[in-house]
Amino acid sequence: MNGEVVVVDDVARAFADRVTGAFAARPDEDFSIALSGGETARRCYEQLAVAGAEAINWWHVDFYWGDERCVAADDAASNLRLAREALLERVGAAHALYPMRCDEGPERYQLLVGQLGRFDIVHLGLGPDGHTASLFPGSPALESDPGLLVARNEDPAGNNPHPRMTLTFSGIARSRLVLVTVEGAAKQTAMQAVYDGVDVPAARISSERVVWLVDREAAPRQLRGRPPG
Ligand code: 6PG
Repeated sequence: MNGEVVVVDDVARAFADRVTGAFAARPDEDFSIALSGGETARRCYEQLAVAGAEAINWWHVDFYWGDERCVAADDAASNLRLAREALLERVGAAHALYPMRCDEGPERYQLLVGQLGRFDIVHLGLGPDGHTASLFPGSPALESDPGLLVARNEDPAGNNPHPRMTLTFSGIARSRLVLVTVEGAAKQTAMQAVYDGVDVPAARISSERVVWLVDREAAPRQLRGRPPG
């Protein structure tokens, strides 16, 4: 696996602190973050809306997505809807929004990511099957050309519904900092596999800096005794 694992008591709070810290240290006037889907992400964004109220000038933040389900923007499964509910409508400001739109195909998003150059943050989760973003075990996008930053994808095992669009590992690698948030006992097996070097998709996450924020229930057994970071 790549990066450092930090065992924390409160994953959402630790995530919000890392984002506000990265915003304060940003090298450019604007700040770009690629958002995740999932319920861990929802809790992280609700916390970020609070922690960032004073610490982040949202007018300087460009929001991208790391993956999206190919559903209507107001569908309960939409990652755009999740971000709107948990963060965007609470902070009420942004410099720009760049939702992933399946009907436009991955090529347009590839150009956006290519023109951006480098995300300040890519936020990822971990599925119980070891997936991250919409990069599922045995799925075609795992083996995409290294030049491909965005791809359509699906879960061949059928455990994760809807056709998807997702950053590839090359797209994820275009980031100054990748934050992976993992919480709950249901993720322990997947997190242990990543930590032990098993070739699950999330083990392939790589970038300039990767930080795994995990709670004690999800932590690899080798780190369980560590005091919270
Ligand atoms: C998605 C997410 C996905 C998610 C994990 C964890 O669109 O579903 O990008 O990768 O982060 O499945 O989700 P939970 O936090 O809900 O377990």
